[in-house]
Amino acid sequence: MEARRAHANWRPSNGARRYGIALRRFAGPASYRSQVSHLRIAHLTDLHVGRITPFEVQRTAAEMTNAERPDLVLLSGDFVCHSQLYLDQLAEVIRLFQAPVIAVLGNHDYWSGADEVEKALQHGGAEVLRNRNTTITLRSERLQVVGLDDAYTGHAQRDAAVRGLRKDLPSIALSHIAEEADGLWRHGIPLVLSGHTHGGQVTLARLHELSVGKIAGHRYVHGLYGSRDQAGRNGEPTGAVYVGAGIGAAVVPFRLGERGKREVTMFELGCAPGDFVEHHAEQEPMPGRKPTQATIAKRAAAVVRKRLRREKRLIRP
Ligand SMILES: [Fe+2]
Repeated sequence: MEARRAHANWRPSNGARRYGIALRRFAGPASYRSQVSHLRIAHLTDLHVGRITPFEVQRTAAEMTNAERPDLVLLSGDFVCHSQLYLDQLAEVIRLFQAPVIAVLGNHDYWSGADEVEKALQHGGAEVLRNRNTTITLRSERLQVVGLDDAYTGHAQRDAAVRGLRKDLPSIALSHIAEEADGLWRHGIPLVLSGHTHGGQVTLARLHELSVGKIAGHRYVHGLYGSRDQAGRNGEPTGAVYVGAGIGAAVVPFRLGERGKREVTMFELGCAPGDFVEHHAEQEPMPGRKPTQATIAKRAAAVVRKRLRREKRLIRP
């Protein structure tokens, strides 16, 4: 099995060691087995290119990704860090990936200027999915990729994102916010890749479950949740969601604990759970807490306020 061999042979490069970037590997949902012979999908999230994270970190993550020779790179949002000053570097990082790149946006991209971030990603060669899906052919295998726009700032439109999706082709989804996964599973998408939480960054003594889970109210904090079984549980539509710990940071660069490491993750579609040793098993979600209407309105208003501030700065003599 190619996945097992690659995992056994993997040794962290100097860059991976210096910047604490983990390489993790998981099998895909069981349903892919009848639809895909083998596709390797790389997932990275929260690159946060900007002044908090040294540029070498993102470059090293791209090099680690290329060394795995994935068929496709999927990126789940938060490409920038509070400004548009580093969009050229962002495009440069995207250009480093040797496989096709598909991306969705995150809350930081909306705060900094979604259209400008989208353009930089496209300039680097990525396809950006904002509430739509695309079908890509990789080594003669077809895969539908669904891209849900950022739910944190109120831009997710699930019906538009899944429109025209075919049941006879395998599908995978990207959503910056993992809590959107349950709604995507209902449309027959068995695997959703997400980010946003940075795994809590500090995970010693399960601190991430307290900060991201209990206090911030996330159901999915870090890693793999749900079920990759075909049958599902109690007849309910089910699926899996993976929350990547991300590459960069937007506030403090500090990361402590195994789960809080920067992370490049490989998904071996066509392999089933149990085919090789995985970093951890499917986890039970935290109770979670839905944002109130007031919080939703506040988050949407923040995007408008930041845009107005940017425009004001531009017209100032
Ligand atoms: Fe982030």
